[in-house]
Amino acid sequence: MTSRIIGTGSYVPARVVTNDELAQIVDTSDEWISGRTGIHKRRIAVEESTGYMAAEAARRALENAGITAEELELILVGTTTGEHCFPSVACEVQGEIGAVNAVAYDISAACSGFLFAMDTLQAFIRAGVYKTGLVIGADCLSKLIDWEDRGTCVLFGDGAGAAVMRAEDFGLIHTVMGSDGERGNVLSCVARTNGSFVDKRTPQLGYVYMDGQEVFKFAVKKVPECIRQVLDESGTDIEQIKYFVLHQANYRIVEAVAKRLKQPMDKFPMNMERYGNTSAATVPILLDEMNREGKLEPGDRIVLSGFGAGLTWGAALLEW
Ligand code: ACO
Repeated sequence: MTSRIIGTGSYVPARVVTNDELAQIVDTSDEWISGRTGIHKRRIAVEESTGYMAAEAARRALENAGITAEELELILVGTTTGEHCFPSVACEVQGEIGAVNAVAYDISAACSGFLFAMDTLQAFIRAGVYKTGLVIGADCLSKLIDWEDRGTCVLFGDGAGAAVMRAEDFGLIHTVMGSDGERGNVLSCVARTNGSFVDKRTPQLGYVYMDGQEVFKFAVKKVPECIRQVLDESGTDIEQIKYFVLHQANYRIVEAVAKRLKQPMDKFPMNMERYGNTSAATVPILLDEMNREGKLEPGDRIVLSGFGAGLTWGAALLEW
């Protein structure tokens, strides 16, 4: 028994912010941003919260799966940008969509959040605890960005993606996950837990800090490694893989991974040019687009891979 994705959904805010618009705020240019990252524009939440986007993506995934919210037994949201420390985004989603029979909680693994949530749901399904669940990757990084820091503010966008998973005989074949807490300092954001009774400090929310080159080196090493591991451990030949659906941080990272895996670029779909890096949402948004465009056919083998702060990384091999 394993679990299979039976429906996908996604939501991105309506507000489009182009590179040219950002060039009016910080000292940058469309040429610099698109040349270094592949990003041309992104969607930025104006009214929407992470919970709102996650619930919208969830509704669309349920509709795509053809099941009701009451059938869900577990809702996991990979996110680091909930509006509240508590309740969780997953509980907000549960309340919004009326998933009255579901247990709901968040998973904090930054850009790897969707992969980690999927792996957790898979473990419950394999153990026979649950049969039907919903995994979501949702983030609103625009709320954690220093809009005066050109090194980070050009990279991110907001959005949410979701997948309904159900116990079946085929689907997820194998997953691998990893973490390296010793290198957490290369990509971080201080939470509002830095107040102090002793010196009467008021808690303040930090901004995203990133050592871009260290993150780049980490990604181009770890992503091919974990993809090879998920293939080797499941006895799968890389030539059997139709698509590698990677976290959409930067097209140069995707290119470097393709090169290291000796695979052609047309196996690496991308949409970061339209959405930027939506953190935990990149993989499920891209997967939903591919699903709705009819790019995925029964029997296709695909690899999903996420990587991000923690440091964290993971890969999942599945049959569509
Ligand atoms: N516009 C113009 N110039 C800029 C900008 C900008 N938006 N940002 C930085 N620069 C300047 C820097 O100030 C620096 O100027 P200097 O040489 O005068 O000091 C110069 O460009 C080079 O800066 P670097 O940081 O060395 O630029 P780099 O070539 O490394 O590119 C980038 C930066 C694109 C972030 C790169 O490091 C990268 O791709 N890193 C991967 C990390 C990533 O994609 N993170 C996404 C989020 S994390 C995740 O999702 C896992």
